[in-house]
Amino acid sequence: MCGIIGIVGTSSVQERLVESLKRLEYRGYDSAGVAGFAVDGVERRRAAGKLKNLEDVLAVEPLTATVGIGHTRWATHGPPTKGNAHPHRAGRVTLVHNGIIENFAELKATLKAEGRVFETDTDTEVVAQLLDRELSGKPPAEALKSTLDQVRGAFALAVMIDGEPDMLMGARRGPPLVVGYGKGEMFLGSDALAVGPFTNRIAYLEDGDFVVIDHNSAKVFDAEGHPAQRAVQTVPQSATLMEKGNYRHFMEKEIHDQPEGCQRTIAAYVDTLTGHAAFPGGIDFATLERIQIVGCGTAYYAGMLGKYLIERLADLPVDVEVASEFRYREPSLHAGSLVIAMSQSGETADTLAALRYCQAKGMKSAAVVNAVGSTMAREVDVVWPIHCGVEIGVASTKAFTAQVSVLAALAVAAARARGRIDSAEEQRLVRVMLEAPRLMAEAALAEDAIRKLVPELARARDVLYLGRGAMFPLALEGALKLKEISYIHAEGYAAGELKHGPIALIDEATPTIVIAPSDPLMEKTLANMSEVAARGGPIILVTDAEGAKHAAPGMKVIIGPACDPFIAPLVYAPPIQLLAYHVAVHKGADVDQPRNLAKSVTVE
Ligand code: G6P
Repeated sequence: MCGIIGIVGTSSVQERLVESLKRLEYRGYDSAGVAGFAVDGVERRRAAGKLKNLEDVLAVEPLTATVGIGHTRWATHGPPTKGNAHPHRAGRVTLVHNGIIENFAELKATLKAEGRVFETDTDTEVVAQLLDRELSGKPPAEALKSTLDQVRGAFALAVMIDGEPDMLMGARRGPPLVVGYGKGEMFLGSDALAVGPFTNRIAYLEDGDFVVIDHNSAKVFDAEGHPAQRAVQTVPQSATLMEKGNYRHFMEKEIHDQPEGCQRTIAAYVDTLTGHAAFPGGIDFATLERIQIVGCGTAYYAGMLGKYLIERLADLPVDVEVASEFRYREPSLHAGSLVIAMSQSGETADTLAALRYCQAKGMKSAAVVNAVGSTMAREVDVVWPIHCGVEIGVASTKAFTAQVSVLAALAVAAARARGRIDSAEEQRLVRVMLEAPRLMAEAALAEDAIRKLVPELARARDVLYLGRGAMFPLALEGALKLKEISYIHAEGYAAGELKHGPIALIDEATPTIVIAPSDPLMEKTLANMSEVAARGGPIILVTDAEGAKHAAPGMKVIIGPACDPFIAPLVYAPPIQLLAYHVAVHKGADVDQPRNLAKSVTVE
């Protein structure tokens, strides 16, 4: 979604606002804007499109302010024009907003009836107008409180009030907002990353909080308006670092970071000395009746993989569902189940709502998250961090394999607790898991072979991905990666389903990517591959050396290492991701910021 920054500084804020917006651009990049207090009033600069356009504007018309706010937008209400770009102004109010104001239409009608004139198509402007109205006769914090009492929806705000040049206000209901503590300077930001260049001392606002900051302090109030204390934490440097190194794109770096990332993840969930899965959090897997996993996008596919691993190994029923559907279909749940929210950001609105839905039904809750300060992490009974470091590329890669690693360790721990495997088998599986990072690195060596296949794939309009067993969720994830960043239509299918529909799509212009490393199902998948070949469809087979022997002459093959099927989804993820990455690069697409997408989707 959108990204927010606010700085009560002692020196010019322009450069720092822009630096912060660069870090927030992963949340949205339709338009950007900044505003600050100049000697003679508020100065504001906005531009449609990428942040670069705003920088061009600022080069001609710089800000002079030492106190200001900034915003990068992922449009919800109104097209991404300059006029709809934040900050928005009304009377004495200038503000930036992340989220959605659900009752904006009725509020707008009332405010219009009162004679207020609107300049934009956004829901945000309603908040600015409303707050300006509330300011007459009330001090700023009180006016903000009564504004917040009138708006419905999920939002985070950073606000400047004319005549209060040493103060900013913030509020959150739903999307996150952090307060950063500097030396004689204070900050508001959508996340730790946003304020990372300025401070690592951060307080996370609770849902419903609003805050007033000046140069030296933050006064926090809860939803009822009572003063509240929110602990100031020192966040680890890894939460504020954002470097591409020698890579062209964050996504490329993050793909190659995976072996190291997964090593960290796996080491957190297995005891490397004893060879046991040491799953923290005190969940009794022996008596647990069911697991309900909820997530969106890539996190959902990681959850699906978890289902395959956990059910097979531990004989523990696992339901997986996209969070956006789950919460509205009134699913049948029971209190003996554990809900696991899968989410890199820990902020995805649908996943959060699904999690809360389960909690309200009395279910115990866990979150598999990357952002340990996130809302989900704070609201669950147990947090299982994925430890893969900050992920910037909008298309998720290293978070995926780290999420799968956590669930693989959970499968082993649950299987042991339920007596489905003995200690020797547990130790064997842990050894297999510890092998995964090295094999993932080996699989990524197929990159040169992958590059050669790219021109043909980049010409395709449609691409099919096929897999069986645990390779099916990986096929779904492969297709998602390709469509997200290269804009080629792609579908993942269970290989056995091919003949029930998608086979009708096969022709010489529709490549099929078959993911089939050696396992007990490989031959069945290869039979499906033959069905495609028989109809003239071009095939790229992703397999190991043994599987490659089954490739027909002339068939394109990407060869990865042989591995235990238990870790094959981890080992074969990097080549699948690299394939999508190189197709997108070949097409000249903006890999790290694909059109219309945002990394952290904090609206429904
Ligand atoms: C967005 C991103 C995806 C991500 C999904 C879920 O759609 O573009 O890459 O998988 O949100 O995000 P989460 O932070 O909950 O894992």
